[in-house]
Amino acid sequence: MNTPDQTGAAGSSPAGGGVLVLEGAAVAVGARTLWSGFDLHVGGGEFVAVLGPNGVGKSTLLQVILGTVPPSAGSVRVLGGPPGSANDRIGYLPQRRGFDPSVRIRGVDLVRLGLTGTRFGVSVPLRPAARRRRREDEDRVASVIERVGAAAYADRAIGHLSGGEQQRLLIAQALVRRPELLLLDEPLDSLDLPNQAAVASLIGSICCDEGVSVVIVAHDVNPILPYLNRVVYIGTAGVASGPPEEVITSATLSRLYGTPVEVLHSAGGRLVVVGQPDAPGHHHGHHGGLIDGDHSAPADENGGGAW
Ligand SMILES: Nc1ncnc2c1ncn2[C@@H]1O[C@H](COP(=O)(O)OP(=O)(O)O)[C@@H](O)[C@H]1O
Ligand SMILES: [Mg+2]
Repeated sequence: MNTPDQTGAAGSSPAGGGVLVLEGAAVAVGARTLWSGFDLHVGGGEFVAVLGPNGVGKSTLLQVILGTVPPSAGSVRVLGGPPGSANDRIGYLPQRRGFDPSVRIRGVDLVRLGLTGTRFGVSVPLRPAARRRRREDEDRVASVIERVGAAAYADRAIGHLSGGEQQRLLIAQALVRRPELLLLDEPLDSLDLPNQAAVASLIGSICCDEGVSVVIVAHDVNPILPYLNRVVYIGTAGVASGPPEEVITSATLSRLYGTPVEVLHSAGGRLVVVGQPDAPGHHHGHHGGLIDGDHSAPADENGGGAW
């Protein structure tokens, strides 16, 4: 795992201010405050997980970082500026589920869209002067597809690929512009356990090897636990951040939920949270659920998110 000193990526933000800094931040949707008193500092090359039950505002946190939802209090700085000012240096993978089998776009085209596509809502006509850049773009698309291990199937229609294959290509799309900060919203949620482990390891190595800071929203902390520098846990009654072993404890989570919650450590080192209530306003969540997910349950198509 990297420190800012090892990667130098923190130098991209003035005065070593950190890739992402929230101080006393709060967010509200309508009259309802989702979270408040949110302090977070993410340095270059750090890997941070955002955990918590459905409906507490994890996806909304990513929208605040992207500048599409304003904080209702406190300050938020992203890559040295206000949210939204450096989005071309951020890779974002929204919360979503698999592509419909009827989606015909090829994997390689999906990745290329990260460079050229709908990003600014403008299609740029190819002029002779742009030809060399196009060659570089194609090289970049090929190398990022290689990096995520998708070369064998990138020419196939995305709708015909498995969930794990789709997720690798979406990560490639988010990486193709060499972001300094990667925001991933539940990228493991629709995957089986071996694919969760493989994609978590891929994200961990991208963070570590390339000094990309990663903020990952996760329903299950266990697949990413080996790679994490820090977790942010949004409970129904508060927010805490720190090293996983300090935040994911019975005492801290009981405070964040305002009710007794127990953290169990399985023999294999997995963390299981028992007894957490659901977020207010959320009606189809994981009552008494596990932080490591109930993998026997049918997939929740929307993950409870509004995005
Ligand atoms: N644009 C919006 N307008 C009103 N309510 C919203 C909007 N976006 C999200 N919400 C509500 O805010 C809460 C948090 O949503 P979200 O950030 O998606 O939670 P999470 O990602 O933790 O499951 C939910 O109750 C959701 O319905
Ligand atoms: Mg969400």
